[in-house]
Amino acid sequence: MASPPPSAPPARLVVLVSGSGTNLQALLDAIGDDPEGYGAQVVAVGADRPGTVGLERAERAGLPTFVCRVREHATREEWDAALTAATAAHRPDLVVSAGFMKIVGKRFLAEFGGRVVNTHPALLPSFPGAHGVRDALAYGVKVTGCTVHFVDDGVDTGPIIAQSAVEVTEEDTPEGEAALHERIKEVERKLLVEAVGRLARDGYRIEGRKVHLGHVGE
Ligand code: GAR
Repeated sequence: MASPPPSAPPARLVVLVSGSGTNLQALLDAIGDDPEGYGAQVVAVGADRPGTVGLERAERAGLPTFVCRVREHATREEWDAALTAATAAHRPDLVVSAGFMKIVGKRFLAEFGGRVVNTHPALLPSFPGAHGVRDALAYGVKVTGCTVHFVDDGVDTGPIIAQSAVEVTEEDTPEGEAALHERIKEVERKLLVEAVGRLARDGYRIEGRKVHLGHVGE
């Protein structure tokens, strides 16, 4: 699958969130008042539920927001179509799923396939799904981390863009999931900012499972 660079820089980002939105905040902070320098700007923030801290961050930044709740649609397909339309209205070059705890559907991927970036709190392909940190702890791994990857039609199975490792120590008990997750998120925010910036500035090409950064047109 080949993907073009954004039409005209800075790239337009729609960020999807479900929770506290610290990854969204990291992107907003990195972009600051120099979207040209970073290569991208956040043009809207979407969520699957109202009233989250992530949405508050977007509103504080003066960004348009939208909410698509699964329960307000008769079927999952209808929800997916509504999410697709709400996202498409902001004409994104890239969609960033930053703690968005929903699996997008066929329609969404047909519209944005190869342009949807997700961040996950484990070293994929280990520990996909909604409990990456908990599952890694329960397995007893000594190293875990985070993965920024493109979204395909599986659960956290798409081509990998970047990864960072985080050590699991003796102090990381199963009860300490939140503390480990915080340590992962410190690394994850930097990784996401770096990866999205490079995709936007340098362009990219997806070949099978390989993501090549800065190789467009070669
Ligand atoms: C992040 O650690 C992200 O990887 C994770 O939710 C957190 C969101 O934090 N996502 C998943 O677990 C998806 N399977 P944030 O709301 O503070 O950005």
